[in-house]
Amino acid sequence: MWIRKPVWIDSGDQLQQKTFHTKYWLNAHSNLYLGTQNARRRDMKIAVSGKGGVGKTTFAAFLIRALVDEGRRVLAIDADPDANLAQALGVKNSDEIVPISQMKALVEERTGAKPGTMGQFFKLNPKVDDLPERLSVQIDGVKLMVMGSVKTGGAGCVCPESILLKNLVRHIVLARDEAVVLDMEAGLEHLGRGTAMAVDRLVVVVEPGRRSIETAHHIRRLAGDIGIKNLSFAGNKIRSDTDKNFLLKQMPDFHFLAFLPYQSSIIEADLEGRPPFEKDKEGLEIIKAAIKELEA
Ligand SMILES: Nc1ncnc2c1ncn2[C@@H]1O[C@H](COP(=O)(O)OP(=O)(O)O)[C@@H](O)[C@H]1O
Ligand SMILES: [Mg+2]
Repeated sequence: MWIRKPVWIDSGDQLQQKTFHTKYWLNAHSNLYLGTQNARRRDMKIAVSGKGGVGKTTFAAFLIRALVDEGRRVLAIDADPDANLAQALGVKNSDEIVPISQMKALVEERTGAKPGTMGQFFKLNPKVDDLPERLSVQIDGVKLMVMGSVKTGGAGCVCPESILLKNLVRHIVLARDEAVVLDMEAGLEHLGRGTAMAVDRLVVVVEPGRRSIETAHHIRRLAGDIGIKNLSFAGNKIRSDTDKNFLLKQMPDFHFLAFLPYQSSIIEADLEGRPPFEKDKEGLEIIKAAIKELEA
C-alpha cells in the first residue's frame, strides 16, 4: 500500500517539510523519526561590525547575554583581530585563550601547510565541523571561539590559516543550528560571499562622531558588495537627544535598531573585568527589545 508522510528535512541551513510517498509503513515511520531527530530550528546568525572602539564587543556581549536569557543556545565568535570578547563575557584568564589562527599544529594538520607560509599547495576545503565543539570555551551557557588575526602578505594573499578560518566561519554560519553572534572588525574579514549571504543580519555600531559614521558608510558599501541581506545600525555611547539626533540627521537612510546610552557603569565594568550587562541592566533591556524587533 502506498502512503504519504510529511517529513521534516534538515538540510543544514534550512528546515523544509516534504511529503514523501512510500510503499512501506516502516520506511515512512523511520523517515519521520529520523526527520524529527535531526530537525532543530536554525537560529539567527548575527554579525557585529564598526570602527575600532565604538563598542562592537560591548554590543555583542549584550546581544549574547540577551539571547541566553531567552533560553537560546549561543555560539559566540570573536572574529576581530583586536580580540576582547572573552574578556567582555567575563572569562577569567581570557588572555590565556590561544586564537585558532595561532594553533600551528592544527592549521598544518587541517590544511597540509604550515601557517604563515605562502605559495605552497594546501587543501582549500579543510575539515572544520568538529572545531566548534573541540575548541570553544564555555562561559555561562555560551560557547566562545576566538579566531585570531591573520597576517596578510599583500593583496590577494591566501595563506593556510586564513583558509582554515574562512571555512570555519562559513561552516558556523551555514550549518550550525544555534544562535551565532560574530564580533567582527570593520573590514568583515573571513566573510566570503556565500557566508555573507547566509548571515541573517549585520549590525554596524556607530557612535556620535564623524569618523565612526564614515566607517559605517564604508561597511555599508562592503556589505552590499559581498551580499549581506539585512543591515541595521546601532547608536552607542549616546549622551543625550542631541547625540541621537546627530546620528539620525547624518544617517537619514539607515535603519537604526537601537540606541545605547553612554553609561559610566559600562566603563566601571570594563575596569573591574566584569561583563557590561552585569552593571548596566538598562542596556540589556534595550537589546532584548531590539531582538524582538528582529524576530517580528
Ligand atoms: N555605551 C557605553 N557607555 C560607556 N562606555 C562604553 C559604552 N560602550 C562601550 N564603552 C567603552 O568603550 C570602550 C570600547 O568598547 P569596545 O566594546 O571594546 O569597542 P570595540 O569592540 O568596537 O573596539 C570600552 O572601554 C568600553 O567599556
Ligand atoms: Mg572589540
